[in-house]
Amino acid sequence: MGDCSSQPPPLFNHDFLHHVLLLLFLSLMLLFPHLQMHHFASCNTTSGEHVGCLDVEREALIDLKKGFTDPSGRLSSWQGQDCCNREGVECNNKTGHVVELDLKSCMIGGEISPSLQQLKYLQYLDLSENDFDGKNIPKFIGSLMHLRYLDLSQSFFSGTIPPHLGNLSSLSYLDLGFYYGISSPRLMADSLHWLSGLPSLTYLNMGNVNLTITYDWLDHVNMLPNLQELWLGDCELHNLPSSLSFVNFTSLLNLRMPGNNFYTSIPQWLAKLPKLLELDLKNSSIQGFISDALGTLTSLQHLDLSMNQIDGKIPRSLGNLCNLKELRLFSNNISGEITDFFDELSKCPDNSLEYVLVDENQITGSLPDSLGFATNLNTFSVGRNRMNGTIAKSIGKLSQLDSLDLSSNFFKDVVTESHFANLTKLRVLDLSSASEKSLVLRVNSNWVPSFSDNLRSLSLINCQVGPSFPSWIRALRNIYSISLKNSGISDTLPDWFWELSGLSVLDISFNQINGRIPFEHRINQSDNLSLPQFPNLSTLFLTRNMLSGSLPLNIGMLMPRLLVFDLSMNKINGSIPSSICELTQLRVLVLSDNELSGELPQWCWKYLQQLAYVDLGYNLLTGKLPSSLILLSSLEILKLSNNKFYGELPSSFENHTKLQSMDLGENGLSGILPSWIGSGFPLIKVLGLHSNHFTGKIPSQLCSLSHLQVLDIGQNELQGSIPRCFGNFNAMAMVQSDTDTIGLSWIGVFTSYTLVLSVTLSKGRELNFTNNLRLLKTVDLSYNNLSGDIPQELTKLVGLNILNLSMNHFEGTIPEKIGKLKV
Ligand SMILES: *[C@@H]1O[C@H](CO)[C@@H](O)[C@H](O)[C@H]1NC(C)=O
Ligand SMILES: *[C@@H]1O[C@H](CO)[C@@H](O)[C@H](O)[C@H]1NC(C)=O
Ligand SMILES: *[C@@H]1O[C@H](CO)[C@@H](O)[C@H](O)[C@H]1NC(C)=O
Ligand SMILES: *[C@@H]1O[C@H](CO)[C@@H](O)[C@H](O)[C@H]1NC(C)=O
Ligand SMILES: *[C@@H]1O[C@H](CO)[C@@H](O)[C@H](O)[C@H]1NC(C)=O
Ligand SMILES: *[C@@H]1O[C@H](CO)[C@@H](O)[C@H](O)[C@H]1NC(C)=O
Ligand SMILES: *[C@@H]1O[C@H](CO)[C@@H](O)[C@H](O)[C@H]1NC(C)=O
Ligand SMILES: *[C@@H]1O[C@H](CO)[C@@H](O)[C@H](O)[C@H]1NC(C)=O
Ligand SMILES: *[C@@H]1O[C@H](CO)[C@@H](O)[C@H](O)[C@H]1NC(C)=O
Ligand SMILES: *[C@@H]1O[C@H](CO)[C@@H](O)[C@H](O)[C@H]1NC(C)=O
Ligand SMILES: *[C@@H]1O[C@H](CO)[C@@H](O)[C@H](O)[C@H]1NC(C)=O
Ligand SMILES: *[C@@H]1O[C@H](CO)[C@@H](O)[C@H](O)[C@H]1NC(C)=O
Repeated sequence: MGDCSSQPPPLFNHDFLHHVLLLLFLSLMLLFPHLQMHHFASCNTTSGEHVGCLDVEREALIDLKKGFTDPSGRLSSWQGQDCCNREGVECNNKTGHVVELDLKSCMIGGEISPSLQQLKYLQYLDLSENDFDGKNIPKFIGSLMHLRYLDLSQSFFSGTIPPHLGNLSSLSYLDLGFYYGISSPRLMADSLHWLSGLPSLTYLNMGNVNLTITYDWLDHVNMLPNLQELWLGDCELHNLPSSLSFVNFTSLLNLRMPGNNFYTSIPQWLAKLPKLLELDLKNSSIQGFISDALGTLTSLQHLDLSMNQIDGKIPRSLGNLCNLKELRLFSNNISGEITDFFDELSKCPDNSLEYVLVDENQITGSLPDSLGFATNLNTFSVGRNRMNGTIAKSIGKLSQLDSLDLSSNFFKDVVTESHFANLTKLRVLDLSSASEKSLVLRVNSNWVPSFSDNLRSLSLINCQVGPSFPSWIRALRNIYSISLKNSGISDTLPDWFWELSGLSVLDISFNQINGRIPFEHRINQSDNLSLPQFPNLSTLFLTRNMLSGSLPLNIGMLMPRLLVFDLSMNKINGSIPSSICELTQLRVLVLSDNELSGELPQWCWKYLQQLAYVDLGYNLLTGKLPSSLILLSSLEILKLSNNKFYGELPSSFENHTKLQSMDLGENGLSGILPSWIGSGFPLIKVLGLHSNHFTGKIPSQLCSLSHLQVLDIGQNELQGSIPRCFGNFNAMAMVQSDTDTIGLSWIGVFTSYTLVLSVTLSKGRELNFTNNLRLLKTVDLSYNNLSGDIPQELTKLVGLNILNLSMNHFEGTIPEKIGKLKV
């Protein structure tokens, strides 16, 4: 072919579609062998019938070139007498007429000259993957009566599709689709009546064309008896009639209409398309249940009804679809069991099922024995359902299985070696449970799993795996991610753990794992340098175990890629070594609730430019607050409370525009509250300084913290009066606002990690909130030496949940309206 792209279109990310397009194109070439198009060296040199290109066609090509912009010079060969020996131009070798113009991906734009009409014998026109900058499709394309193939896709045309295209009575292939996103200019149509002029059409793609007001689209599509492939994805279609008096487009093989807004159930007439291979109604607001009748479409290979509001059961009849390769029903409200479907499928002489994705529904029951007949399964995903039965051992026969996701269900069973007997290809295994310990994994201590060479990701959250540490993990040569959170292990971490050097994610939190923390200093024998222990580890959760020992002095080089490090709630002692500052990619550092002591590294924190969340609370840390940590501009949440820090707050401060929460409570800090607190943290929501020895007045600059929701400066030695401007705390003056939540700006990176943050208030009260929970609004000034009257302005803070002014020396009357606050 003479088009500009020598390789597959670069922006075509829909692999499957691409594949189909190719196939379709190939089959077109078979259908129309007379579309033979050949480059000549020159029309002039042909022996036999001497034909050259017609003057009028040559002139037309010259005009076309003039109209186009051609920044990359793709059309530079368009010159001279011979029109046939040009980029993208093909002539009939008998008549010399230009029969093909293929300018796909030529980076052209500009105008399509009306002279195009002079190429009267054009059969094939491809202007796809160019940039016509929102221009309309020219009406005169409708006069190219011999066109069989017209592709204007991906070329930034917009406006109404000219009904003149309905004059192209020989057209077999029409692509007007566009997949770059809704924000680009779009084509639209108010009616598709012109389709009735295209009885030969086999392929029609109007992806992303705005068909909102095209109510009768189906009637016109139904007039296309040869149509094999119909793509109407993201067309803003609303109308999907449930019945058709006569189904005429029975040649249909592929029907793809994802991303529309039908708000109706699956229509009845689909069952009358006996040749259908693919049905895609994903994300189209389909409601109601899956009709039994779909089970009559025995050719069906791909069924995608995911991301809708479908309820009811998976009908048994779907099990009649012996040719089905993909069943995608995820994110619906489907209930009942999947047993009938697999029981029925097991009666097929043979089945082709490769992908079953039914996650995020309301499915109950067990995984049936008949599942073992689907021996071609590659991906089986029933995660996030309500399955509460057992898991058949036959699952171990699925020797092609790549990914098995049974997560977030309520299975009650004991899983053994035989469940995994032949799962040699398994790469992803997720048995995480929604109910604690109802799923038990019981295997021999010398088990070597069949998937030991291939498994990359293992997740057994909330399963009963312990009490011994699972020794079979040692055999997983290529493991990348392990999650054993809350899996009932009370054991010592085995020595071989260090051999899993390929790990990127490790979560063994919420167990009773004891022994020294899993770090080992190893030396390369040849060059005597330390070796990274986990060179690829990015996420490490050891939270809530019984690990002891201290952080290794060279921690920075053991895990050079660490992003998230949570070792909270263990028994780690010793100090925090300064090599922690070599973890330059670190974003989350949580070492709270341990027995860490000594001083923090003073100067090196500035090297941790990504550090956003630091929690070192509830330790025995002492010394002055390191200003290189306090001043770190990437910080969003800082918690150093319940330690033995002393000294004053740093005296100067840069803008700390990201800081949302700073909790320094329950330490031995002293000195005045510096006025920069008011300007230094423009976005701060939580400020906890209680139970220290701060003296002096409350700086009125505090009042400019308009996002502040929790201010706790109780149990200090503050004097003077409450600044009148306290009424200006905007966030507290609102009962609720959209910004009441707190969270890390990049938390999406770690979807499995829900932050539980807490602020300790005076007198041991604790406010817990996760990144999605609303904050309580609190002002606590109790246990100070404050005096004067209680300003009326405080009554403006109607959003406050807690206002504690007790144990001070206030005079005068308590403002009347203060009773209206929810104290
Ligand atoms: C076409 O053929 C004529 C006569 O054979 C010759 O004079 C002329 O140079 C040829 N033109 C090209 C472009 O080959
Ligand atoms: C025209 O093309 C056809 C198909 O390739 C070929 O069989 C025929 O020989 C060609 N005719 C000439 C005159 O080159
Ligand atoms: C082509 O279609 C348009 C609109 O449908 C119509 O007005 C016009 O007469 C047609 N032209 C020809 C040559 O059939
Ligand atoms: C689609 O077309 C309708 C009517 O022509 C228009 O109201 C709507 O805004 C369009 N939608 C988009 C996303 O362009
Ligand atoms: C079926 O389609 C053909 C071709 O468009 C048309 O002639 C015929 O009237 C249609 N039949 C019905 C019942 O709509
Ligand atoms: C679902 O379809 C809507 C258009 O109706 C689109 O905006 C949205 O991005 C689609 N969602 C997904 C996940 O494809
Ligand atoms: C899902 O189905 C249940 C009944 O099975 C119903 O109570 C619930 O409202 C449905 N949810 C949605 C989002 O349709
Ligand atoms: C599973 O849940 C269903 C519906 O809540 C219940 O009727 C059934 O008894 C449960 N089965 C088991 C084995 O717990
Ligand atoms: C596992 O596969 C082997 C070879 O394909 C076969 O002989 C054996 O019966 C299978 N075992 C199970 C439990 O399916
Ligand atoms: C050990 O050091 C030698 C010499 O510097 C080096 O070639 C080798 O790759 C190192 N081994 C490891 C595992 O880093
Ligand atoms: C702090 O930020 C505010 C608002 O972005 C700006 O007006 C002010 O100049 C900044 N101060 C410093 C010291 O950068
Ligand atoms: C807050 O969370 C901590 C740790 O999870 C827990 O010990 C404490 O009881 C919680 N406090 C409240 C008020 O829920």
